[in-house]
Amino acid sequence: MSDSTLVLGIETSCDETSAAVLRGEHDLLGHIILSQDVHEVFGGVVPELAARHHLQRIDAVVAAALEQAGVELSDIDVFAATAGPGLIGALLVGLGWTKAAAWALGRPMIAVHHMEAHLFGPVLEDSEAEPPFVGLLVSGGHTLLLWVPEWGRYHLLGRTRDDAAGEAFDKVAKMLGLPYPGGPAVSKLAREGDPAAFRLPRPMLSAAQRPDDPGYWDVSFSGLKTAVLHTIREVHEDGVFEERRADVAAAFETAVVDVLTSKTMRAVELTGCRRVLLGGGVAANTRLREEMRSALGADGRLFHASPRLSMDNGAMIARAGLFRHRLGEIAPADVSASSSMPFPGLVDAPPDDLVPGLSATPSRR
Ligand code: KG4
Ligand code: ZN
Repeated sequence: MSDSTLVLGIETSCDETSAAVLRGEHDLLGHIILSQDVHEVFGGVVPELAARHHLQRIDAVVAAALEQAGVELSDIDVFAATAGPGLIGALLVGLGWTKAAAWALGRPMIAVHHMEAHLFGPVLEDSEAEPPFVGLLVSGGHTLLLWVPEWGRYHLLGRTRDDAAGEAFDKVAKMLGLPYPGGPAVSKLAREGDPAAFRLPRPMLSAAQRPDDPGYWDVSFSGLKTAVLHTIREVHEDGVFEERRADVAAAFETAVVDVLTSKTMRAVELTGCRRVLLGGGVAANTRLREEMRSALGADGRLFHASPRLSMDNGAMIARAGLFRHRLGEIAPADVSASSSMPFPGLVDAPPDDLVPGLSATPSRR
């Protein structure tokens, strides 16, 4: 029998206020994403403004999602909201709203981890986007390379040592005089540029690395960012900034994509699983998708959501909430938001049969 549980998913961890009504696993009945453009003039998200805007708009956003779905709030069976990680003031708005609604109606509430939810984005559009897969989560705050043998079991292979991939795009966008959010703007400009015009470094990528070395899996983008800064200074000094901007954008984007694709393919080789899932805002990057698809070849599968479901959205929160609800994980009445919420089911090492010895070390980082 198909599941007809109605889940309301609420996302307010950063600068998108979003609500979704999901029936069962795949039936997205209503979905509203309101992006806060107030941050654009500041060149980045201002946490207090984000929280205030969520508070002003959340009622209207939920009402619109319910109307689109043709259901009443009292029809909702399960309430799910992002509890972390994210901006604490912003998280508290969505979580507080959801907690109040669930309590008033006597329904269960699920506290969802934002990054686990990003893994559930693609399966909303493609029912084959199920484990096993190698997961690459690339957002504004996180970069995680995971081996996912089944939902709820996430083996951490690599992560960023400094900036997240999206953060690097946002910072380089600023250096290039492009608006926030930087990823789409850099990517658009890069299309007009020559990626080979500048040779930028591929940090933490060398043939000498071995699977039992965390450096084999981890990424780092701060050195690349500094290299971009030096390059921009040079083209400014030569008076050719305007002419070379697109080339810098293309060289930077290619370097990031090269590193992410190479590290992901290492995981594909290790696991022998030619199924890769991209999640998070940077998964919307066309060059990343193309490179990953070509590296995987004809016998590989690449899963990613459409740009709308790659960015922060309530639908993925509802879907992750449904999964956690089925496991019986109902949030206690005193649940709170956490900017550093631990990733549920995350094991800080690959399985022992894949990289013997590594899992014996409780924490490698
Ligand atoms: O997942 P997301 O919407 O929010 C967080 O959880 O952080 O990711 C936002 C990030 C931003 O850094 C944005 O610049 C980046 O995703 N992004 C992109 C693209 N679209 C969004 N980065 C590269 N290329 C894109 N097309
Ligand atoms: Zn996100």
